[in-house]
Amino acid sequence: MSIQPAIDGRARPWWESAVIYQIYPRSFQDSDRDGVGDIEGIRGRLDYIAGLGVDAIWLSPIFPSPMADFGYDVSDYCAVDPIFGTLDDIERLIAQAHERGLRLLLDFVPNHSSTVHPWFAESRSSRDNPKRDWYIWRDGAPGGGPPNNWTSDMGGPAWEWDHATGQYYLHTFLTEQADLNWRNPEVRAAMTDVLRFWFDRGVDGFRIDVLWHCIKAEDLPDNPANPDFVPGMGEKFLVLQHHSANQPEIHELAAAFRMLADSYGERLLVGEICLPVDELMRYYGSVDAPGVHLPFNFQLFEARWDAATLAAIIAAYETALPPEGWPNWVLGSHDAPRLAGRIGDLQARVAAMLLLTLRGTPTLYQGDELGIGRVSIPPERIRDPQDLRQPGLGLGRDAARTPMAWNDSVYAGFSEVEPWLPLHGSWPVHNVESEDRDPASMLTLYRRLLAVRRRHASLRTGGFRLVPSDEGVLQYERWDADERLLIALNMRSETRRLFLPDGAAIADVLASTQALRTLDGSLAPDEGLVLRIENA
Ligand code: NOJ
Repeated sequence: MSIQPAIDGRARPWWESAVIYQIYPRSFQDSDRDGVGDIEGIRGRLDYIAGLGVDAIWLSPIFPSPMADFGYDVSDYCAVDPIFGTLDDIERLIAQAHERGLRLLLDFVPNHSSTVHPWFAESRSSRDNPKRDWYIWRDGAPGGGPPNNWTSDMGGPAWEWDHATGQYYLHTFLTEQADLNWRNPEVRAAMTDVLRFWFDRGVDGFRIDVLWHCIKAEDLPDNPANPDFVPGMGEKFLVLQHHSANQPEIHELAAAFRMLADSYGERLLVGEICLPVDELMRYYGSVDAPGVHLPFNFQLFEARWDAATLAAIIAAYETALPPEGWPNWVLGSHDAPRLAGRIGDLQARVAAMLLLTLRGTPTLYQGDELGIGRVSIPPERIRDPQDLRQPGLGLGRDAARTPMAWNDSVYAGFSEVEPWLPLHGSWPVHNVESEDRDPASMLTLYRRLLAVRRRHASLRTGGFRLVPSDEGVLQYERWDADERLLIALNMRSETRRLFLPDGAAIADVLASTQALRTLDGSLAPDEGLVLRIENA
């Protein structure tokens, strides 16, 4: 498989050559001594972010919320939660990010609102309230119990009984997160106003939360039982979400979001979509009705960490991409365990090289640049509702959400008071200040790789092809009219051979995951290299 560099001469939108940095605002920097991060904290760290060499920031939700799901339960889409600051603060953050050449994306949470949102308060006030149909209300099943067998992603049934009006409402996530009815044009109009509100304030785009969930099959039929369910998986897996998610009409909704975003110029929509690759690709839409610019690609999260598996994943993804689709890659997020915890420190460095040299827009999650590995949260400090509601299944997300470590002072420079979640255990070593001083640190590696990516257009927008390699090694080429790069990633902790393409010689070593050495045709254990090659 070989993807040629685009030679169509079209101007590329900024996000095709950008690197996105995800910030989980509760855990980035506290500026007002309450143990929770905030917008002013982020503003004070803009130089760090710009200095990393990334191009855009995506902020997880900063809107007013009772925080049942830490902001993914929004009670006002057009304001800022006091714990994070004010509307003025976010406007200042946008302006100062822009001054540094950084774009800013917010998190749009359309599938559900908090049950304390005034829309829901109205909707639940009576069966004939004009907003009743803004949410999904149904009578119980004829014999009693919920209207169908749908389960919540957070465990238990997806329906909650409302005594006052004698009906159930749907909640794909917590009972505190009621699903909006996107089949209702008034909901669409109200949410369009929300997007406009933020676009008008200069926001460069949105990451759209659980986009594939937003529309449900009209008559809400039972989902089929999941034949592969085994206890311990989490109750969301009891059924297959055939009717509760990924309905055909979702693409029309994505196209409408896209039209709105494009009407503002180059604004970016990243859709959170957890589906198999062929279904994921449909979220790019078509030439006539484009969908989101980047349907998030989470293939690396759970991939078996070996060269053959990764090569197959990359090839399948690149092959499935529609002609106009621009790829993207993600290594970590506030929902997924830290990759370094799973694959170890040395392979985490190889993973960083992979993320920043594959074709497409990478998203880097805060703290991954420090090489944070396995984190354990003492039971009494667990805050994640998904963990608290289904204890013992290992579904907790707190380990990915621990506060950013800036230095080795008490509370790691994140706060002057005890933070809302504990720090990762290795914070005295894995913190920005000490890694800054260490030429062999993960932070130094990330900075170097990001700088190489900036300097080499072939990495940002060039062609891509997998090339033959020794067993256990992943090798691919990136090239454009000016240069040809070979990336060689040894995914084993044994020495391996470096395969040079026929007739090629190494002209330059642009980056290594380890200390630079004289090359001898081999790859050291766990070594990753970015090489410039030429005809011998
Ligand atoms: C996906 C978000 O990333 C996650 O943190 C949240 O719990 C669910 N969507 C529900 O909004």
